[in-house]
Amino acid sequence: MPIDEITQKVSDRYAKAASTGEQMCCPTSYDMANLKSFIPEEVLKISYGCGTPAGLNTVSAGETVLDIGSGGGIDCFEASRLVGPTGQVIGIDMTDTMLAIARKNAPIVAANLGYPISNVEFRKGIADAMPVADNTIDLIISNCVINLAPDKRKVFCEMFRVAKPGGRFTISDIVADQPVPQYLVHDSEKWGDCLSGALTLTDYMAGMIDAGFVGIHLVKSSPWRRIDGIHFFSVTLTGYKLPANASVPGVRYATLRGPFSRVTDERGTTYTRGIPEALTPNSALLLSQPPFASLFVFSQEPTTLVQTDSRWSAVLPEQTPCVWKGDYALFAGPFLEVHDDDQHRFRRGEPLEICSKTLRVLETTGYAPHFAVLNRASQPVGDNAVNCTPNGSCC
Ligand SMILES: C[S@@+](CC[C@H](N)C(=O)[O-])C[C@H]1O[C@@H](n2cnc3c(N)ncnc32)[C@H](O)[C@@H]1O
Repeated sequence: MPIDEITQKVSDRYAKAASTGEQMCCPTSYDMANLKSFIPEEVLKISYGCGTPAGLNTVSAGETVLDIGSGGGIDCFEASRLVGPTGQVIGIDMTDTMLAIARKNAPIVAANLGYPISNVEFRKGIADAMPVADNTIDLIISNCVINLAPDKRKVFCEMFRVAKPGGRFTISDIVADQPVPQYLVHDSEKWGDCLSGALTLTDYMAGMIDAGFVGIHLVKSSPWRRIDGIHFFSVTLTGYKLPANASVPGVRYATLRGPFSRVTDERGTTYTRGIPEALTPNSALLLSQPPFASLFVFSQEPTTLVQTDSRWSAVLPEQTPCVWKGDYALFAGPFLEVHDDDQHRFRRGEPLEICSKTLRVLETTGYAPHFAVLNRASQPVGDNAVNCTPNGSCC
């Protein structure tokens, strides 16, 4: 299907939704009582996101925030509240009906927040050629939009172009656990449903890396729909555009604390738990960002950790039989590859079948934030326990 045709179909779909106020799309977790206190109902009822990127505590006062595919403006208005009157918010959308509703409500929201003038500007534009100046945005947000864009690589490059050095993105979107087949890709109706254009997590993250972002990682995930055996789920991801030639004073070595026994970062550097690694200024800067920082000990001189050190972290599996229930773990950053203490190697974005014992490990606080877990069993599974061999080969 030609790119222009997809874009037109998607825009028509959202123009219709905005004018009828129909329910669409995916689960979100907004604090509606809070939003209702300053955002008009007309905006809230056409909220078609699949996450709450602006509400995730990543926005600071005075920042400039860009929302790609701002729709009726819900996330722009929440960002407006969070950046305060000294901050600025830009919403980009290609659909006139959406823009009209968002623009009409901007002064109402500003008045409700007690601002002398609205700090939100809605601009008409397309995600792969945004009307935004280079290097001007502190935080890019987007809620269930990039899957709708036919040329995602261009969108990722645009995001990198407009982000300030030192800027970041926190976006929510729909992804699939396997490549979406051609019969869905070429179904124009399903583009507007956030299905046809969904990427796999691996392709999504690789697109961001190719554009120049680093430290891409999962903030949140939730299952959404299963169609023809394909799991579609919502993810909220963050990543960074690091400034060139920056340094972190006093940080020359990093020692992995765990819970992973070994990790390989996006540059191909491997860190083994307890063993100090010399850092380049760029690596020091990246590792000092969340969520890396809590996984390492930083020092000026090499610091070795031993198992008895309180900073050492490991989660060993229970020595019990294992049950295979159809669960798959998707590691979602901030590394390309990680190893646990039970011979598993998790590669970012690649589903790995896990048994009940491993699931319990991945549910612990050190592991859980980095994984999405999905169940692919389409029929009831038995509860036959398997005893793992000493070399851990079964699970
Ligand atoms: C699923 S809605 C989400 C709207 C909003 N982010 C929210 O959470 O309510 C998708 C929005 O993105 C816009 N959109 C879709 N593809 C776009 C593109 N390639 N460029 C700009 N806007 C786009 C649509 O017009 C629509 O308003």
